[in-house]
Amino acid sequence: MNISRRPRRNRKSSAIRDLVQETTLQVSDFIFPMFVQEGTNQKIEVKSMPGIYRFSLDNLLEELKEVTDLGIRAIDLFPNYGESKKDRFASESYKEDTFYLKAITAIKDKFPELAIMTDAAMDPYSSDGHDGLVENEKILNDATLEILAKMTLAQAKAGADIIGPSDMMDGRIGYIRSNLDLNGFTDVSIMSYSAKYASAFYGPFRDALESAPKFGDKKTYQMNPANKREALLEAQLDFQEGADMLMVKPALSYLDIIRLLHENFDIPIAAYNVSGEYAMVKAAAQNGWLDGERAMMEVLMSIRRAGAKCILTYFAKEAAVILNGR
Ligand code: PBG
Repeated sequence: MNISRRPRRNRKSSAIRDLVQETTLQVSDFIFPMFVQEGTNQKIEVKSMPGIYRFSLDNLLEELKEVTDLGIRAIDLFPNYGESKKDRFASESYKEDTFYLKAITAIKDKFPELAIMTDAAMDPYSSDGHDGLVENEKILNDATLEILAKMTLAQAKAGADIIGPSDMMDGRIGYIRSNLDLNGFTDVSIMSYSAKYASAFYGPFRDALESAPKFGDKKTYQMNPANKREALLEAQLDFQEGADMLMVKPALSYLDIIRLLHENFDIPIAAYNVSGEYAMVKAAAQNGWLDGERAMMEVLMSIRRAGAKCILTYFAKEAAVILNGR
């Protein structure tokens, strides 16, 4: 055969394959989402997320020893509040000294090198289970911004390094940024959930936080999965309003959106490999339907290949074990 171009030559051995590998994945790319709840000695597995737990602070600190020993350098911390603490204003989110804020401070104390990201949205604290203030079954935009500003200031005071607004209200990045700056927190970063879609893949997360909306859905604020150009507009606004990093969420059904933002913005792009994407791989692996480890690494690599620099993923620990060569 007269075949002068033989791409297989570049795949003939492991050394050569590694030599020509275009995309890399490292433990420092990961942000590990973790769930904290009140109490002591609690470690409760999230039913729809095998291997993922809600911890009380004491157990969380122990877990973090393991997490940081694996080389993971960033976490995203979410609180689980009991129904009795929730109200329509999410007032628990900006009270001082809540267990969530205390947990941030305690983690910062014990692991000063670890980057702590916090979530800015009303849903874990809201009796309506929505990310914004509800009036007559409508989500109010501008009134929500004031709550978000108070919430994020409290998180910054507690020691958050990165604020992650996940609410999708209009104008929130600018509003949060100027409030942080006014209060002297010019060093606190914002990773904006820029293109956050109204997705079915958040189901297990809402189990973890017991935060599902009490009525309706999130379609008046989260994006329509059919839209791509709108993601550019959302990202443009967040960029102009001062976001340091732009995030796409979920990741797998939205690899084209990750690529789009990567090509259009010169700040780092992140992707959230969400709870439902984790659950899918885990469930199939538990059934013996696919090789869970290989699927996990392929998923993570594809997100990097699409153009995300960092990945929020529940796989962080497991993938770190593999990347560290076990
Ligand atoms: C809420 C929030 C959600 C997630 C992160 N922050 C859920 C939602 O919007 O309903 C989902 C994360 C995941 O599914 O892993 N503001």
